[in-house]
Order: sequence, then C-alpha cells, then structure tokens
Amino acid sequence: ASSHLRYDGQVAIISGAGAGLGKEYALQFASRGASVVVNDLGGARDGDGASNSAADAVVELIKSNGGKAVANYNSVTDGDELVKTAVDSFGKVDIVVNNAGILRDRSLLRISEDDWNTIVDVHLTGAFKTSQAAFEHMKTNKFGRFIFTSSAAGIYGNFGQANYSAAKLGLYGFSNTIAIEGAKYNITSNTIAPLAASRLTEDILPPDILDMLKPEYVAPLVLYLCHQDTSKTGGLFEVGGGWAGELRRERAKGAVYAKKGEEITVEGVQANFDGITNFDEPTYPTSSMESTMEMVDAIVSAE
Ligand code: NAI
Repeated sequence: ASSHLRYDGQVAIISGAGAGLGKEYALQFASRGASVVVNDLGGARDGDGASNSAADAVVELIKSNGGKAVANYNSVTDGDELVKTAVDSFGKVDIVVNNAGILRDRSLLRISEDDWNTIVDVHLTGAFKTSQAAFEHMKTNKFGRFIFTSSAAGIYGNFGQANYSAAKLGLYGFSNTIAIEGAKYNITSNTIAPLAASRLTEDILPPDILDMLKPEYVAPLVLYLCHQDTSKTGGLFEVGGGWAGELRRERAKGAVYAKKGEEITVEGVQANFDGITNFDEPTYPTSSMESTMEMVDAIVSAE
C-alpha cells in the first residue's frame, strides 16, 4: 500500500475532459486526491457548437465520489482561461494534460482552409495557449508535468488525415522543446499516441476491438507520467488497452556522398543512396546536439 500513487495537493488541468479519454483522466486523478479542472467546450466531433453539460456531468461525478473538481467551458484556444480557472479555484497548476481534440477528416484535395485552420487551432494552438500560461506558474513553483496527445496518424500518416497528422506530430516537437526548457525547473513533458474507444473512433474500429480499448486503460500511463516522483521526460508512448510502449528515433549510419575538395554531384547521392538508407548499423541520437556531433564526425572521418 505504501507504493500507492497519490496526487493529494496537486492541481491538474485536463482539456477535453467531458468525454472519452479526458473524462477518464479526470476521474482517475480525482480519485487519487488531485484537484481537477474539467475543461470541455462541449461541441461536436468536428468542433462545431458548444455546451456546458459535458464538463458539468464529469464534475458532478467526481464530487459525488468525494473528489475535488471545477468545470471550465472555454475552448482550449483560450488556454489561458483554463489556467486562470485552476489558479482562481485551487491556487496553482501542477499538471496539464493537453487532450482536447476534434476531427475534420478529408483527403488532401478536399481539405478547405477552414478544415486545416480549425484542426491546427484546436490541437496545436490550443495546447500552446494552455501550456504557455501554465508553464509560467510551474516555473515559479519549480514543478510541472505536461502530457501532449499525439496520434498514430501523426507518427505514421493516415489516409484522410493530413490536417490532423500535421497537428498531432507538431505536438510531439512542441513537447520535446518544453521538456528541454522545463528541465531546470523540474517540469517534465511527455507525449502519448493513444488508442481508445471514443466518439472519434467508434465508426473506425470494429466493436470487439473497441471493447478491448476502453479509455480507462490509457489513463494509468498518463497518471504515472504526471506523478511527482516520475522524472521521465521527452518520451513518446503508444498506449492502448492496458499496453504501452515507448517509441524512439533510429537513424541509418548514413554515408558521405560528397567529400571535401571533390566535386559535389547528384550522382554522388545516387551512388551512396543504399548507404544513406541502410539501417544495419543504426544510431539513436537523443538530442539535436548528439545528432549534429554524429554528422560532423562522419564528415570529418571521411576526409
Ligand atoms: P472525444 O471526442 O471523446 O473527447 C474529446 C473531447 O474534447 C470532447 O469531449 C470534446 O468536446 C473536447 N473538445 C474538442 N474541442 C475542444 C476545444 N476546442 N476546447 C475544449 N474541449 C474541446 O475523443 P477522445 O478519443 O477521447 O480524444 C482525446 C484525444 O486523444 C484527442 O486529442 C484525440 O485526437 C486523441 N486521440 C484519440 C485516439 C483514440 O483512439 N480515441 C487516437 C489518437 C489520438
């Protein structure tokens, strides 16, 4: 029982917590002692409309279980309002789970500028606005835990999701820089690519698979990564159905296709393309500095 992970005294903002994954995060954080800002705009799957009822229902549920929660109905594009609700209600913010999301699935030639901008606004700008406002408080308090919600569609691409893919992988880059900028303030940032039954996936996956993938199975990884004793940062995790695995970057050993003092040609690339794309001796750079040093070493040793 001494290893039971608690969040007493912690203040968590969960965006899009009126349904699906966000609702489960809110319930599980609250059941372990956290004070939770349950944010939800309450609109449709494509982002249209708004309603207070989604957030209110989750707040009522948490309170009826003896937990602490307050609703916030803003769009994450006004993310500073989410942080204001946390600070006004609970005095601070420790944990931010950037989870709110919508879909505007269309193949590339059918994506309108509005479809593009709306997806980028909600996922990317929403996470930026919320996280920037929260970071200021976390920096002062020398503590913070961020989660960003990416997607397999962002990592691997997915037919009909060019707008969503771009925003979702953008969140991973954003998280990695927060991890670097937050390191000296005990602020961590991790990214998840979840898989769960929700209104975003109910018509995409077959019923027996959806049954295996309840949102409550994803929440424990999010809670673990946000615990004050968890120092993991800069991670990217695929997670679903009670399974999780971290993803990392692998780079081909590569090849020098143009040596100093020799002619620089396209044919040099052609002649070395097998080496450029060969993963027999991969490396695993963990930072842009490591990546750069390896590249410079390869260039220098070819001279
Ligand atoms: P969901 O539709 O059940 O929940 C998303 C919630 O976000 C909704 O309650 C919605 O009202 C809220 N929301 C939407 N726009 C908002 C805004 N501008 N401001 C505040 N709240 C807003 O969907 P689900 O599946 O729980 O999705 C959660 C996150 O996980 C999303 O970011 C989604 O893209 C991501 N995701 C989900 C996957 C899955 O398998 N369910 C797969 C990959 C990513």
